[in-house]
Amino acid sequence: MAKTKTIYKCSNCGATAFKWQGKCNNCGEWDTLNEEVVATNKKKISLKSLDYNTVTLQNIETEKEYRIQTKIKEFDRVLGGGIVPGSLVLIGGDPGIGKSTLMLQMCRDLIEYNPLYITGEESLKQIKYRSLRIKNIPENLEVLAETNFETIESAIKNSENNVIILDSIQSIHSELIESTAGSVVQVRECTSRLMSLAKKLNKAIIIIGHINKDGAIAGPKILEHIVDTVLQFEGDKTYAYRILRSIKNRFGSTNEIGIFEMTQQGLDEVPNPSKIFLSERQEAESGIAIVASVEGSRAILLEVQALCTPTSFSVPQRTVTGFDSRRLQMIIAVLEKRLGAKFFKHDVFVNIAGGVQISDPSIDLGVAAALVSSLKDITIDPKTAIIGEIGLTGEVRSVSLIEQRVKEVSKLGFDKVVIPNNNFKSIMNKVNIEYQPVERISMALAMILKD
Ligand code: TYD
Ligand code: MG
Repeated sequence: MAKTKTIYKCSNCGATAFKWQGKCNNCGEWDTLNEEVVATNKKKISLKSLDYNTVTLQNIETEKEYRIQTKIKEFDRVLGGGIVPGSLVLIGGDPGIGKSTLMLQMCRDLIEYNPLYITGEESLKQIKYRSLRIKNIPENLEVLAETNFETIESAIKNSENNVIILDSIQSIHSELIESTAGSVVQVRECTSRLMSLAKKLNKAIIIIGHINKDGAIAGPKILEHIVDTVLQFEGDKTYAYRILRSIKNRFGSTNEIGIFEMTQQGLDEVPNPSKIFLSERQEAESGIAIVASVEGSRAILLEVQALCTPTSFSVPQRTVTGFDSRRLQMIIAVLEKRLGAKFFKHDVFVNIAGGVQISDPSIDLGVAAALVSSLKDITIDPKTAIIGEIGLTGEVRSVSLIEQRVKEVSKLGFDKVVIPNNNFKSIMNKVNIEYQPVERISMALAMILKD
């Protein structure tokens, strides 16, 4: 009889504790520790030296990587060029964001690879109804409604299907593990068994995972370490736009994004995102600045909106959507110190239009311009785009990928672009547009906010 002991595992971060506690010491979440029984008599490893062989890189054979293309360009790009056979991909996202819809559409577009859609969440009828709403879902798509992992395992092993979709990992459970479906142990065990199945059979398996309240996939972060690729499907549900982001990718670059629009007939690709994120206004209005952010490998023009109103609180409010609030505090502090702008008497609201979340510091100068534009009620020329990172001393720092940004600005018909002086030399002869190189934030704002 194997010796066992009881440990407590956190369902959020996977940390273990030897006694039950209300709060996880590692991640600080409350009520996440679950009991788990583990075997203690480990196999003894002999201490005598073991054989091994090293190889040099030149002697490792490679083959040209083969990928299954889904024909959904946005999806293929995020994956790094398509699905790699034998890989395990995890797609995470809030409930209702469109994960099942995306997978059904993917099945449609790679039907020749004989996909199998396994659902543990919805009934066959529900899948059928959804498929009727989406354009051209082929009638011969194979579907299986199952929650038992062992049954799913044999379906994967014995079928001819080359691409398997499992919707969702939290809804299935293995009989070999005494724990409820969706628990850390179940989710982790089932995922690692799927990983070895995918590798052994050289079939691509895509699993859907729900996100917990902090945005971590499936609660246990440990899932991310098991799989080859992690994609996150995100977006503000009040908008139709959805962003598919690559967080981890053993077969391509991370930080690549794909943009979709949810319509009545499912998800449409958005090949030119700048167009949708810019509201085409005829009149200039104060508090609006156009910036060029790089997401993944492409530049997107966005509209920064700022509103400064006299505060009626002792501590003024700072409300920001789509941008880092600490970065906003920093920009406000620089503006107060270097330009004497009086934000401490104002509530400040900053919003990136369209419901996207931007962490690219190249939009700093645009945010600063929008803030001062609203504070002083001076408009910014709507045909000017603003690029630049702000440093604490008030300098405008150079940004990466300047050529991509300026090309996008020019492509969308803007007349002028404000850029960091240090970027100017490298770009001036490459794209034909009127440049306004700036070194300091004071000079930049004086130029942008001419009355
Ligand atoms: P769904 O794919 O079920 O989301 P998830 O699997 O991530 O939970 O779709 C979510 C929402 O999308 C649902 O509320 C309805 C809406 N939707 C559309 O607007 N158009 C469509 O064609 C489809 C299929 C769904
Ligand atoms: Mg779903």
